[in-house]
Amino acid sequence: MDKTLKISKIKDGTVIDHIPDGKALKVLSILGIDRGSSISIGIHVQSGKINFKDVVKIENKVLEKIELDKISLIAGSATISIIKNYEIIEKFSLDLPSTFRGIVKCSNQNCITNAGEPVKSEFITISTDPIILKCIYCRKEMSGNEAQNLI
Ligand code: CTP
Ligand code: ZN
Repeated sequence: MDKTLKISKIKDGTVIDHIPDGKALKVLSILGIDRGSSISIGIHVQSGKINFKDVVKIENKVLEKIELDKISLIAGSATISIIKNYEIIEKFSLDLPSTFRGIVKCSNQNCITNAGEPVKSEFITISTDPIILKCIYCRKEMSGNEAQNLI
């Protein structure tokens, strides 16, 4: 008896693999669900002898830059595979962008970006490991969960 858990391969679309254990639903919330795509989700899937990961497979979808930037904040270890006719035609890991515009919410309530003004939030990445973002308006530095507070 084959006891291995398998998520079917996809014909065309995108595989987001090596998502940190437990983050798949957050990744899914970034992507949204639209009627044109079948989505398979693996949560707490064994990866190697002692590690676990999440996997999200989306058929007939190519991710946009803004989606990749958001995923890089939530699941920096993820690898993205682009599948065409069952073959991997491109595979890459995610780089944290040097700036984030209109993507993350500033945690400073008094920041101009939280004042109902037409000013988009903007952060510069001042450290990638650990991730530290700095608001260009109020200079607030954010890390951990704060840096994952997506708009
Ligand atoms: N995949 C898929 N459908 C395909 C081809 C690949 O869903 N037609 C998925 C695989 O299941 C895997 C990911 O795409 O989750 C990357 O495939 P591959 O590079 O073949 O897997 P691994 O060698 O295990 O990759 P890694 O070393 O990154 O774990
Ligand atoms: Zn700010």
